[in-house]
Amino acid sequence: MSDIYLDHAAATPLDQKVLKVMQPFLDKTYGNPSSIHSMGKKAKQALEKARADVAKILHAQSKEITFTCGGTESINLAIKGVAFQKGSGHIITSAVEHPAVLETCKFLQTKGFRVTYLDVDRFGLISTNKLEKAIKRDTILISVMYANNEVGTIQPIREIGQIAQRHNVPFHTDACQAGLLDLNVDKLNVDLLTLNGSKIYGPQCGILYKHNGLKLQPLLHGGNQESGLRSGTENVPNIVGFAKALQVVQKNKEKENKRLTELRNYFVTEVLQKIHNTELNGHPKKRMPGNVNISFGVDAEMLLNHLDQKGIYVSTGSACKSGEIDVSPVLKALGREDGIRFSFGRSTRKEDLRVLIRELKVIVGSLRKVLIV
Ligand SMILES: Cc1ncc(COP(=O)(O)O)c(C=O)c1O
Repeated sequence: MSDIYLDHAAATPLDQKVLKVMQPFLDKTYGNPSSIHSMGKKAKQALEKARADVAKILHAQSKEITFTCGGTESINLAIKGVAFQKGSGHIITSAVEHPAVLETCKFLQTKGFRVTYLDVDRFGLISTNKLEKAIKRDTILISVMYANNEVGTIQPIREIGQIAQRHNVPFHTDACQAGLLDLNVDKLNVDLLTLNGSKIYGPQCGILYKHNGLKLQPLLHGGNQESGLRSGTENVPNIVGFAKALQVVQKNKEKENKRLTELRNYFVTEVLQKIHNTELNGHPKKRMPGNVNISFGVDAEMLLNHLDQKGIYVSTGSACKSGEIDVSPVLKALGREDGIRFSFGRSTRKEDLRVLIRELKVIVGSLRKVLIV
């Protein structure tokens, strides 16, 4: 039996079409985009084309796109960039953000900023009423993720954006899990949006969309690349690859989201029916098409290891936490203790899920017996 990879929310394989557009910038046109000779100019042209391509998808202007090395860097630039520009004030975020947001906010608290962490309901949704009530006279930023990396819940981004606009507060959304969703920044009412390439069949690369009128303080100082917002030689192959990956996922998103939603609904219905005392974590409908998170009432790490022995790769909590096993703060915020995340992707077929369900029945059954003895 070949391996069944169900951890696409952690990492996706590089699309061959993406690899193809990256290749020339690795071994032929390797010039530095800041060099003024012909090879440098070619690299610069490719960089600016990638920027324009990304901007088009986001309905933004090219100058509003900054390339970084990944999601964490983009998020740090968005949040600290606003905070350091303002110097002091209050930030609103949610309790279920990725550590890239939560730890940045915690760090800012040590520098005198005040942070409100909005709680969520049992499905992982924030309350927009509570959000509006939390806004203070000195609120400098609202940061709420588009889609949750663990339970897949999709937040009401447009509504949050409208509230933020009404109160004249900049709004950032971490869209690292939402590459397959609508990324039109005008419709979403966002001022800052962060995205990475490793979840969309692209290379490790990040972007920050920043509304033209908003001023940020850079985190990296040096050669003033990226209009001074992110110094350091641009990673042209990865940037070109990122733009291509985003184009491909966005072009196919309706069809692929429909396919993944059908697989997800099939899998959830089967597991909840066939394995008793199991619970779905996250929202039943407002969730990422390829995300399923289920509590089986057994030790999640043990279940993961048993599946691993069968060549089935899933995740508990956030894989971005570099292998630490801890109670997931996201599941905790939802009132759950542990869960297994199955994240489907391009390679996922119904047959894989049939195999998985069969294995789950056996493994969960035997782990529960051990529990009783
Ligand atoms: C929602 C979310 N935000 C931020 C990140 C961090 O991105 P990166 O690993 O590219 O730094 C991740 C990574 O999985 C994520 O899922």
